[in-house]
Amino acid sequence: MKSTITKAVVNVAATTGSTFFSALLRKKNVVTEEENHGLKRCLSALDLSLMGVGAIIGTGIFVLTGVAAATTSGPAVVLSFIVAGFACAFAALAYAELASSVGGAGSAYGYSYAAFGEFIAWIIGWDLILEYGVATAAVANGWSGYFNNALHGIGLGLPVALTKGPFAVDPLTGLADGGIVNLPAFMIVFLLMMMLIIGVKESAKLNTAMVFIKLLTIVVFLSVALFHINPENWTPFAPFGWFSYNEAGKPIGILAGASVVFFAYVGFDAVSTATEEANKPQRDIPIGILSSLIFCTIIYIVVSGTLTGIVSYKELNVSSPVAFGLARIGVNWASALVATGVITGLTTVMLVLYYALTRILTAMSRDGLLSPLFSHINKKTQTPVKNTVICGVVMAVMAGFIPLNALAELVNVGTLAAFVLVCGGVIVLRKTHPDLPRPFKAPGGILLPVLGVISCGALIAFLPLHTHIRFVLWLAVGLVIYFAYGIRKSQLHKE
Ligand code: ALA
Repeated sequence: MKSTITKAVVNVAATTGSTFFSALLRKKNVVTEEENHGLKRCLSALDLSLMGVGAIIGTGIFVLTGVAAATTSGPAVVLSFIVAGFACAFAALAYAELASSVGGAGSAYGYSYAAFGEFIAWIIGWDLILEYGVATAAVANGWSGYFNNALHGIGLGLPVALTKGPFAVDPLTGLADGGIVNLPAFMIVFLLMMMLIIGVKESAKLNTAMVFIKLLTIVVFLSVALFHINPENWTPFAPFGWFSYNEAGKPIGILAGASVVFFAYVGFDAVSTATEEANKPQRDIPIGILSSLIFCTIIYIVVSGTLTGIVSYKELNVSSPVAFGLARIGVNWASALVATGVITGLTTVMLVLYYALTRILTAMSRDGLLSPLFSHINKKTQTPVKNTVICGVVMAVMAGFIPLNALAELVNVGTLAAFVLVCGGVIVLRKTHPDLPRPFKAPGGILLPVLGVISCGALIAFLPLHTHIRFVLWLAVGLVIYFAYGIRKSQLHKE
C-alpha cells in the first residue's frame, strides 16, 4: 500500500512532469509502508504534539528567561517571547505546508532538497546538525547543573572536578575555572542513547510521562507565583528599550532579547523529522508542529510575565531563575519541587533533539551526502543504532569536556538560518509548482512565508557579531566536507 505522501508526489510528478519531482519520486518519497527504510510507523498526532512540547519547553524558559530579563530586555522579556514566537509561527506554518505537501525524510533538509536541490539542502542539513547536536550537549550541561544541586540537597554532591570540563571559564572573571569532566552531562547523553536504541515508541512513552511532569512543574510554579505578583516589579517595563548596544558592545533591548529567548522555541521543528515514523504524516505533522508551538508560546508569555512580576528583573541573572523566584518569595517547598521538575523537563528536550539529530543524519546519509553508516537501520530494534551511538559518543564528549555557553548562541543562528531557507522554500515551490497538492496551505498567499524570511533574518541580525563569525566558520567546515565527500558520493551524482 502506497503512503499518502507517495500518492501526493506521484500526482505531482504526473501533472508537472518535473524532472526534479521524478528524481524525488525515485529516490526519496516512493516509500511503501513495507519499505519505509526499516523505520516503524508508530507515532500519533498526540505523540507528535507531546514530542514538540518535549523538545520546546526547557532551558529557554527555565534558565534563559531570567538571564534575558536581567541583561537584555527587563520585564519586557514577555515582548521578546512574543516577537520570537511570531518569527517561529511564520516558520512553523512553512514547515507544516512543506510537511503536508512535499514530505520526505529529514525535516527542513528534505524540504530544501525539494525546493532548492542538493547543495542548499546540504547547507540546511549542516545547520540542523548544529541546531540539534550542539543544543543537546548544551542542555545536558544545564541538566547537569540542576542535577548536581539536587545531589547536594541530599548530601551526595559530586566533587567540583567531576562537574566541569577542563576548558570551563568563570563567566564573571573570564579566568580558567576547569575541572576534569562534567560527569553527569556525559552520563545523561549515554542514558538517552540507550533509550533511543531500544526503540522510538518506548522513547515516546517515556517522553510523554516526562512532559506531563514538566507541565505539572509549570502548574505548580504558576499556582504559587500568581498570588505573589507585585506590579511594581514590572516598572520600568522596558529598561533597555527596543534595541541598542551596551558599553561592552553587546546588543540589548527587546529585539536582542528576542534573538536570545528564541532558544526557548528551538525544537518545534524536531517534530518534522518524524515524518517516516508518523502514522499519517500529512495530517499529523502539521498538527504536531502547530499545536505544540501555540501551546508553548502561551506558557512562555504567562511564565515570563509571572516571573518578572514576583521578583525584580535585576535579580534574575541566575542559573535557575524559576526556582530562585519561588525561593525569593519564601515558598521553598515549591522551589525544590520545581527544581526537580526542571531536571525531568530538560531530559525530554535532550531526548527529542537527540532523536531529531539522528533522523536528519539518516536522511542525509541516504542521499549519499554522509557515510552509509548513518542510514543503517538495525533490523531487531528498527532504529538507526550505529548512527545513534556515533551521535551519542560525540555529544557526550562535547557535553562532558567543552563549555558550551558560547556555542549555545550558535544553535540560534543555525536554526534561524534553517527557518529562513524553509520559508524561502515555500515561496519558491508556490511559484515553481503552483498545482502541487497542499493538504495544509498557509493562508494569505506568500505573505506569511515572506514575513518569516524577514523576521528570522532580523533575529539573526540582532545576534552578537562573534556569533555571526562562528557561524560562518561552521558553514566553511560544512562546505569543505561537501566538496571533499558529498558532491562525489551523492545519489544525484551517481544518477
Ligand atoms: N527549546 C529548548 C529549550 O529551551 C531547546 O531547552
